[in-house]
Amino acid sequence: MKIGIIGAMEVEVAEIKELMNNVVEETISGIIYYQGKIYNKNVIVAKCGVGKVHAAVCTQTMILKYSPDVIINTGVAGSLNSNLNIGDLVISDNVIQHDFNTSALGDPIGLISGINLVRIPSTYSIVKKIKQAAETIKDTNTYIGAIASGDQFICSENQKNYIVNNFGALCAEMEGAAIGHVCYLNNVDFCIVRAISDKADNSSHMDFPTFVQIAAKKSTILISNFLRNL
Ligand code: ADE
Repeated sequence: MKIGIIGAMEVEVAEIKELMNNVVEETISGIIYYQGKIYNKNVIVAKCGVGKVHAAVCTQTMILKYSPDVIINTGVAGSLNSNLNIGDLVISDNVIQHDFNTSALGDPIGLISGINLVRIPSTYSIVKKIKQAAETIKDTNTYIGAIASGDQFICSENQKNYIVNNFGALCAEMEGAAIGHVCYLNNVDFCIVRAISDKADNSSHMDFPTFVQIAAKKSTILISNFLRNL
């Protein structure tokens, strides 16, 4: 079993890399892939960069070069639901691309051309294992549901309402659904894990820099617990 782990920003992968042993590095298309072991499990870790294109390039390369059995995306997200507070965890049971819109041609909003899906389901067995790993983290609420991705930092009620009303997503970020999309095309299992860094509203430009580190660490703790229990 080989686990691929992708984060968009250095703060989202730095502490995962610190857990690794026997590391071998390789750079492809400007992305560094770190192959090695965590708790004696085979892992391949990469920082993909921000946004869906970076995420897709990284995921496709990881699959073709390293053949992971499952890819997990770790990182932070903006909350779209008033129940979710900074530091809470979200595990995807499906992912959507909120900026995919061919509705002018008669398609449902968010329909991904070619695969004819709005929602790409995460792998149930992985969701279940990550949920079990989350239960061991003290003083942390964990939610399971839709995660929305798009090439936008969400920071207004208008943007939030659009995503919630169309997709009912719990949080917004910029890579997860691209990773899920590439995994779907390649028949690779995946799940997205995010910790809330901000409320995707007019305080996000302050909250994100303040809480990104704390939230990224929360997501890392969950990934670490998951790997330990595998
Ligand atoms: N990642 C963390 N917070 C975010 C937000 N508000 N919008 C998009 N991606 C995010």
